Amino acid sequence: MKNISVIGSGTMGNGIAHVFAQYGYEVSLIDISAHALEKAIATITKNMDRQVSKGILVETEKSDALNRIQSFTSMEEGVKNADLVVEAATENLSIKLDLFKKLDELTPESCILASNTSSISITKIGAVTKRPEKVIGMHFMNPVPVMKLVEVIRGYATSDEVTDSIMELSKGLEKVPVEVNDYPGFVANRILMPMINEAIYTLYEGVAGIEEIDTVMKLGMAHPMGPLQLADFIGLDVCLSILRVLHDGFGNPKYAPCPLLVNMVEAGFKGAKTGEGFYKYT
Ligand code: CAA
Repeated sequence: MKNISVIGSGTMGNGIAHVFAQYGYEVSLIDISAHALEKAIATITKNMDRQVSKGILVETEKSDALNRIQSFTSMEEGVKNADLVVEAATENLSIKLDLFKKLDELTPESCILASNTSSISITKIGAVTKRPEKVIGMHFMNPVPVMKLVEVIRGYATSDEVTDSIMELSKGLEKVPVEVNDYPGFVANRILMPMINEAIYTLYEGVAGIEEIDTVMKLGMAHPMGPLQLADFIGLDVCLSILRVLHDGFGNPKYAPCPLLVNMVEAGFKGAKTGEGFYKYT
């Protein structure tokens, strides 16, 4: 694989484009907004500067990597030579199904179609294409250049061959891929989101305050961030939508989102990206 197309230039998309370019791939970064693409390139440049200052990259490696990234507002242009597409668009089922139908028409027949979805069914996405055996989940973690995990999700029809090639590709990015099957929340969010939800319930029931809850988990369990701060960074709307996928998918009340989380999202307090969630961001 040589040509990688990344759909969506938000936090995850720019991180994914960054890593592929850093490891020598030709990257087409695609977004409907030219402004978002400019912002993404600026973010990648800033994060590569950070890697230069840490000695992970030298200046020439940084400029070579940046030169390997091309931006496109036309999906047709951006995916026509792709060996692999990694979709990192909005976490919305109908948007993703529409996108994959289009990708199935626009990409070469041999192209693997991956989604960075954190909870939408890969089986469902694969089923709208004529190549479900080539549809797979490639779930990177934020911040992508730093976090080692790639959760590789096999849909019901994903082939062994495609799974093996995505596992190998991930290792080539110096990531640690973990193969999992396609059930609600996969592994990462099936475990993470109930913990975050329980932290919100702990706050809602007045057991302890925001900082106290986060301090317990940071210092007591050696988590780099407390669950409420992490929820703010993931986005409270994203946490809510993943909990709903778990709740609907398993039909088990243990996944019911805390009413405080629902209220905060409805009020527009969605975490760091909106300036306020459990904490304030300036
Ligand atoms: N690009 C490149 N390098 C970056 C970076 C980026 N975007 N962000 C941070 N770094 C580097 C820094 O340069 C620094 O490098 P050194 O260790 O060499 O000094 C290192 O990462 C640590 O950064 P900082 O010192 O600024 O900050 P920190 O020590 O607080 O670490 C963190 C930051 C790595 C993000 C840490 O707070 C952490 O691990 N947080 C939890 C992250 C997490 O849980 N992510 C998963 C979220 S869930 C998800 O993504 C998926 C989902 O489906 C919901």
